[in-house]
Amino acid sequence: MLRYDASDALKVLSEDQVRDAQNQLLEKRTEVFRDAELWAEKGQQAEAETGKSPLDAGFLMWPKNQLDEYEANGNGSLVGQIQQAAAAIQAEADRFVVLGIGGSYMGARAMFESLCVPYHNELPSSARQDGGTTIPRIYFEGNNLDNDTTSGLLDLLKATCQDSSDRDQRWALSVISKSGGTLETAVAFRLFRQALENYYGADSEESRKFVIPITGESGKLRNLSNERGYPTIFPIPDGIGGRFSVLTAVGLVPAAVMGIDLVELLRGAADITEQFRTADANENPVLDYTAVCHVAEKQGLLTRVLSTWGARLESVGLWYDQLLAESLGKEDRGALPLTVVNTRDLHSRGQQHQEGTPDKLFTNLIVEEPSSESLALPEASRNEDDLNQHAGKTMPRFLRAAIEGTNQAYREVKRPTADLILPKLDAYHLGQTFQMLMLATVLEGQLIDINPYGQPGVEAYKKFMKENLQGE
Ligand code: PA5
Repeated sequence: MLRYDASDALKVLSEDQVRDAQNQLLEKRTEVFRDAELWAEKGQQAEAETGKSPLDAGFLMWPKNQLDEYEANGNGSLVGQIQQAAAAIQAEADRFVVLGIGGSYMGARAMFESLCVPYHNELPSSARQDGGTTIPRIYFEGNNLDNDTTSGLLDLLKATCQDSSDRDQRWALSVISKSGGTLETAVAFRLFRQALENYYGADSEESRKFVIPITGESGKLRNLSNERGYPTIFPIPDGIGGRFSVLTAVGLVPAAVMGIDLVELLRGAADITEQFRTADANENPVLDYTAVCHVAEKQGLLTRVLSTWGARLESVGLWYDQLLAESLGKEDRGALPLTVVNTRDLHSRGQQHQEGTPDKLFTNLIVEEPSSESLALPEASRNEDDLNQHAGKTMPRFLRAAIEGTNQAYREVKRPTADLILPKLDAYHLGQTFQMLMLATVLEGQLIDINPYGQPGVEAYKKFMKENLQGE
């Protein structure tokens, strides 16, 4: 299981307040599970009873329910169907484009960067093998209105895909939007759909089977998908909001195409949900992390820095930035989440974090074991760089020195720091991390009386943007 160690932070924050917060959170935990049960029993009617509108508590028990369904129904279950759809894409296409924005793509990107080998897309298909399966290259678009990146990807597809009878020159896409009406994604989908239809033929079987829409039960994308007759459409269930949907088809379809083990992802999430439900304070990372964050905020530490130690976790941090900002940044309140990648950002933000405004809580996100063999510093016959003194030391050893050194430096100036430790960067522990951070966000919302679901504030820009588009 992942571990949370706040012993350093507790030298700065009030231990009594953290203990009080833990006790309060034990009660709030019951309410969090009660919301989930109410939602499961009554669906939308539960909103009136809880006063939360929307009430998107469906994510809590989702991982366990999907695992149970998979065990009972195998290929007929949602997980089984996603695995089969992904296997068909892997067998028939070498490039897979994921169109979506916010909660409809950030989780998939986090999985791609953390769990696929670095430089995955640069490798030839012969080196992107996983037990005899070739893993397609993965691209993300539809998450912006950037003319150059969009046309850059369209140009790349055109330049590299010229013979549609060759697997290595075929591409497919998934369009992901719960509402089905988000303009950024819809604009990109129309552009990529046109490119796809030009390549395979407008009425060809390929122009349909190489599009996987993932959307809510109703809306423009659902209607369009039905009309076009796309054979594989996956639902985004009611009761699970965008940024809580990483373990639904939204994240699982891209993950399966990437060759990630869905069962392990879900198992990690289900296990930490159970631990959250049953474990006492001080043995419960969700609860302990929430208590420390809450007390820090009460003491005026309004910025929550998630220091990821290693570049592969940056997108996990960005996923979390979105989760926390959109969930609790409401009613003129909410801490500011900030992801940094260390040691990289010690050379861009380290000065401010050491000596700037003391308004930050640091959480280190640390992976204990690298996934690849450790690189050792070679001995050199000429020692101009004076590194021979460290010859034989491995890259993880240097990283450990940097983590300990940074923690010590912050400790000496009373900048509170805690560690969130993943024994390994694999599907199981990433599933735990996603679920832990979603549970902590909802638990904190329960404590401070903010509905973590929905993002009413985002509607303002959409409305004005649409009005602006009515002009020339
Ligand atoms: O968390 C959320 O709900 C948002 O970030 C949405 O995921 C995002 O706005 C995209 O919405 P949709 O999936 O409806 O296109």
